[in-house]
Amino acid sequence: MRILVTGGAGFIGSAVVRHLVLDKGYEVLNVDKLTYAGTQTSLTSVGNQAGYRFLKADICDRGAIAEAFSSFQPDRVMHLAAESHVDRSITGAKDFVDTNVIGTFTMLECARQYWAGLEPARKEAFRFLHVSTDEVYGSLGDDGLFTEETPYDPSSPYSASKAASDHLAKAWMRTYGLPVVVSNCSNNYGPFHFPEKLIPLTILNAMEGKPLPVYGNGANIRDWLYVEDHARALDIIAERGRIGETYNVGGRNERRNIDVVTRICELMDGFRPGRQPHAALITHVADRPGHDARYAIDATKLETELGWKAEENFDTGIEKTVRWYLDNEWWWAPLRSGYAGTRLGLIDPPKQGAA
Ligand code: NAD
Ligand code: DAU
Repeated sequence: MRILVTGGAGFIGSAVVRHLVLDKGYEVLNVDKLTYAGTQTSLTSVGNQAGYRFLKADICDRGAIAEAFSSFQPDRVMHLAAESHVDRSITGAKDFVDTNVIGTFTMLECARQYWAGLEPARKEAFRFLHVSTDEVYGSLGDDGLFTEETPYDPSSPYSASKAASDHLAKAWMRTYGLPVVVSNCSNNYGPFHFPEKLIPLTILNAMEGKPLPVYGNGANIRDWLYVEDHARALDIIAERGRIGETYNVGGRNERRNIDVVTRICELMDGFRPGRQPHAALITHVADRPGHDARYAIDATKLETELGWKAEENFDTGIEKTVRWYLDNEWWWAPLRSGYAGTRLGLIDPPKQGAA
């Protein structure tokens, strides 16, 4: 089995590559531009494996992507490459439109051209998994869950660009017959998570005795899934998901942001008692513009139809994650020296006298 993975040097992509190469024994070509969010240090455990290859390329580069298809001859594509951070998309959306929309378009066109030339049995078996987010559904109120039928209603430039890419992927299935499957997942956490996102940022700031920024009142809710559970789900969806279908992925672990940060502080009090109580570092800061109130996934379709189940719950996963950051400074220190956690995503007030 040969799988072309895009974005395999990122947080989720690297967990997917590790799973496919080390647990499944598949051949993987990892196509990644190595933006600020991608690092091959997340792949040291697969770097020497015979089945693993890396190509540094931009998914918007049609020539490079077409060449990757024709030389690697994949049986499947798992498309994860994206600009992924909501706050960065508020500060500047261009990279998000380029990579998430134009890049996905380029991947779909190259896949279509390649797939059209396959012999019938390989053409029949080919799959293109487009990996997306629950943020395309917008925000929930106090009740209810996102299902595969929830209408799209994205709030941020990031989620709007991902929604656009999902529509492109579905359209390439309906119009051209490309065998596309789409997955929409809730918030991931775990090892190798770039320290701009809430959980790794909180852990590293707590380690360094810095303020722990909580946007607004901290009552916003996210539904947390351990990244290795997501990687297994994506492999199952790529293998057995029905063409043209969407599968929601989530671990039924809703938490308020303030409770996530408080739990990390409690764990840090246990692991690093010198600085306790770490909760004294919690600082409420200006809210994120357009901040979605609540995300929560109904993963029944994935669980019942494809037999996936999350193995980690939030309590076990967050403890493993805090412990991993304490033990793996070699991985995060170079990233942290390039980005120390400055607040992103606030909109500058209009200049005096400007129209
Ligand atoms: P990430 O930001 O950690 O990694 C993205 C990877 O894509 C990086 O390695 C980066 O170098 C690469 N990349 C970016 N632009 C590229 C381009 N133009 N060409 C080639 N490579 C490029 O992202 P992540 O958190 O691992 O998310 C992976 C995917 O999963 C994304 O599509 C994201 O929308 C989706 N997703 C993420 C989450 C989450 O909680 N992180 C949840 C649901 C879905
Ligand atoms: O739901 C899936 C999405 O989850 C993915 O599609 C995105 O790629 C991923 O980044 C994530 O988006 P969020 O915006 O939910 O993740 P983030 O870690 O940025 O923020 C989580 C919550 O914590 C959110 O409500 C904002 C809040 N927050 C975030 C940061 C960085 C804080 O309160 N303080 C912070 O410093």
